[in-house]
Amino acid sequence: MNTADQEAAAIELRGLTVCFGEHCALEDVSLTVPHGAFVAIVGPNGAGKSTLIKTILGLVKPSRGEVRVFSKPPEKLDPSLIGYVPQFKTLDRSFPALAEELVASGLRRAWPVRISRSERRRVGEALARVGAEHLARRSVSRFSGGELQRVYLARAFVRNPKLVILDEPATGIDVMGEADMYRLLEGYQKSSGATLLMITHDWEAAYHHSTHVIVLNRRLIGFGEPQRALSEKCLRQAFGHVGHEHTLSLTFGRRGSV
Ligand SMILES: Nc1ncnc2c1ncn2[C@@H]1O[C@H](COP(=O)(O)OP(=O)(O)OP(=O)(O)O)[C@@H](O)[C@H]1O
Ligand SMILES: [Mg+2]
Repeated sequence: MNTADQEAAAIELRGLTVCFGEHCALEDVSLTVPHGAFVAIVGPNGAGKSTLIKTILGLVKPSRGEVRVFSKPPEKLDPSLIGYVPQFKTLDRSFPALAEELVASGLRRAWPVRISRSERRRVGEALARVGAEHLARRSVSRFSGGELQRVYLARAFVRNPKLVILDEPATGIDVMGEADMYRLLEGYQKSSGATLLMITHDWEAAYHHSTHVIVLNRRLIGFGEPQRALSEKCLRQAFGHVGHEHTLSLTFGRRGSV
């Protein structure tokens, strides 16, 4: 890989293999994500999608191979460059927290005992970005799944990260809310030039909103522009089937085989 390619890369994976004991969740995954890409990761349950993003975040160590994020190993990266929405929210719902405190916790490594004026302004901006400014002073213990998801999105955005990593961000959000969320993610990517990495089970959203798709099932099955990566061949290889005869044409407005 030449220097120009390296500068253009937000994420580089070379022969990435992650094993938990005998079982390897990822095997020999190599790919390069350019700066400013909006990448959707699709694959069946247990395909290694969450493991892939946890490795990029430095939360899981590779068994073999290399990971570079903005040309650095994940553990050497400035954490303020990354915003993350995890798949499973570990927050104890009985914890007496306000939404603005949860968002402000994204500005620090510790829970904010007192939010400063400038922090409150940034928290307000982040909540407004996800259409949730009205939730700021409400207790998270009473939130619906979709409201909590929006607050986690605001938390991920609060530091204007250069890389946003989202593990199934549409979970709990209704269809109208989903459309807003994808527009919001696209808008953020276009206006900030940030790179977005999103796990989704929604092929249609991947097809219509992302610039690149990763099709994964332990190994890398497809990577590239949505039309190419979401081909019938790749989907069949990853999922073993592509659903009903008409699934692809209904989803993508084209015939299944590409
Ligand atoms: N910490 C861990 N210890 C042991 N096995 C793990 C661990 N994390 C993940 N695995 C295993 O690795 C495989 C991939 O898990 P992962 O969570 O990455 O899948 P996924 O594609 O995100 O699935 P889903 O769509 O269900 O969220 C699974 O078989 C899982 O049981
Ligand atoms: Mg997962």
